[in-house]
Amino acid sequence: MKNEPAVAFEAATKTYGDVRAVDGVDLTIRRGETVALLGRNGAGKSTTINLLLGLDEPVSGRVRLFGEPPARAVAAGRVGAMLQDTRPVPRVTVRELVTFVARAYPAPMRVDEALELAGLTGLAGRRVDRLSGGQAQRVRFAVALAGNPELLVLDEPTAALDVEARQTFWDAMRGYARRGNTVLFSTHYLEEADASADRIVVVDSGRILADGTADQLKRAAGGTVVSFDLAGGPTEGLSLLPGVTAVEIRGDRAHLRSADSDATVLTLAARDSIRGLEVAPVSLNDAFLALTGVTKSTSPSTSTSTSTSTSLELTR
Ligand SMILES: Nc1ncnc2c1ncn2[C@@H]1O[C@H](COP(=O)(O)OP(=O)(O)OP(=O)(O)O)[C@@H](O)[C@H]1O
Ligand SMILES: [Mg+2]
Repeated sequence: MKNEPAVAFEAATKTYGDVRAVDGVDLTIRRGETVALLGRNGAGKSTTINLLLGLDEPVSGRVRLFGEPPARAVAAGRVGAMLQDTRPVPRVTVRELVTFVARAYPAPMRVDEALELAGLTGLAGRRVDRLSGGQAQRVRFAVALAGNPELLVLDEPTAALDVEARQTFWDAMRGYARRGNTVLFSTHYLEEADASADRIVVVDSGRILADGTADQLKRAAGGTVVSFDLAGGPTEGLSLLPGVTAVEIRGDRAHLRSADSDATVLTLAARDSIRGLEVAPVSLNDAFLALTGVTKSTSPSTSTSTSTSTSLELTR
């Protein structure tokens, strides 16, 4: 059992009536990996997490945690979770709540350590129903840590947190991952996925669209943006330049998304009137929008073409 992956989905499917919330997902997460789950509202992130935790059963396919059915791994305290929907909390102090949860596990974390990792040391004596939204979020993190799990599953863990609390949260999460633990988190903050995950899995309509590092996703989405001043020059033919997958004209600058920036730049440089040339990687935001097919131009009236690359071969 030692070499079993932390998480293994095999063709797992979950339907709600006609909706295929999770649609034949194959996903393996090795021990020690930190994986971000990205996707639009309704993409299937929470359903995936519910299957993973055994809160829901797949209608077909199967899910294993450490080679076991989810319920067994959860009961053994190997999994800690922070779910998206919060429930009303009882009138106990932060320390009492974390202590109570920790006692339910066979080999819990020391309560002081869980409180410290979650940034709650100064709030340990405070009643849990008298906390701000962000503080309550940290209590949920401490509760997820209490059993000293090997696998931490976090559904939009930073949704209510201010900038500083998000920073503190990710520092704690990374510290926890560095101990060799496995983390799966969903988020709508792409920069968090970029900064904190080893690997990003993009889902849409219950399917995995892309799976790789942030850099791989950016490359798959059309790699690089080559921009330059038009200086009144022609815009025709830009989409035909080598490597170019999309063209956008903003003001007097052309922005070319390119899958082969070397070829694009070399061809452009052969023209005499190129000024202010810049080459930059696409943002993870752009990559995400391209991957999920939401191509929303910031200035549609001046866009000459909105074609994006459609074939995204990204497997590990
Ligand atoms: N209990 C339910 N009953 C019926 N349909 C559901 C239920 N839960 C989820 N769905 C549907 O399944 C799909 C996936 O929902 P899910 O909650 O997994 O999305 P999500 O990626 O977590 O979205 P969000 O970013 O909004 O949290 C959606 O179409 C949703 O409407
Ligand atoms: Mg969700």
